[in-house]
Amino acid sequence: MEDIIKTKERLYNTGRVLPDKCGGAPESNRTHGLFTLCNNHIKPDDIVCEVGSFAGVSSEVFALYAKEVHCIDPWIAYCDIPNNDDFIMAEKEFDVMVERRGNVVKKKGVSKDVALEYPNGFFDLLYIDAVHDDVSVLTDIETWLPKLKPTGIMSGHDFDLPGVKKAVLTMFSNKKIATFSDNSWLVYIKEDGHV
Ligand SMILES: C[S@@+](CC[C@H](N)C(=O)[O-])C[C@H]1O[C@@H](n2cnc3c(N)ncnc32)[C@H](O)[C@@H]1O
Repeated sequence: MEDIIKTKERLYNTGRVLPDKCGGAPESNRTHGLFTLCNNHIKPDDIVCEVGSFAGVSSEVFALYAKEVHCIDPWIAYCDIPNNDDFIMAEKEFDVMVERRGNVVKKKGVSKDVALEYPNGFFDLLYIDAVHDDVSVLTDIETWLPKLKPTGIMSGHDFDLPGVKKAVLTMFSNKKIATFSDNSWLVYIKEDGHV
């Protein structure tokens, strides 16, 4: 297995979507903010769930810090990434990453269907990064919230996008919301976390 320090070096400045095509990936699509999130909020025994994984760049960062990472994605063209060839490439890259890491569980399907496969209170941390309009983000948060342990963490990407911000502020208006340099966001469900 690739040495963890080498993996961190390789991933640290990587574009997260279409890495091979993103020579100029914007700051929000680089991984350093996600490393900060993982360093500060994920423990080695944690079980993480990522909704929306694409080529597995963020999934691999989680896999460096957690015991297990469950990744949910249909790997089929949709409004934000309409070209199916991009998904063929992304899924291949994802599968190679799964082999490389050994602690990533691939779940091919849409968020609401795959959620039914898990008991309530299963995950320590959820990361929502699928469809980014407010209704979809709100639906994903509501679908997956029961799957978190009572002490769990809800988080996601793209807090700078209006739909994501609206959904997160609507859902967690009474809680502290931490944000990171890659526009990841994070909330402790029980307010005794150290955000
Ligand atoms: C922005 S990409 C994820 C990027 C990845 N988290 C990263 O940072 O490396 C969004 C992904 O959400 C997936 N997606 C779209 N609709 C979905 C749904 N209903 N359930 C789960 N994933 C979905 C897409 O297939 C796409 O791969």
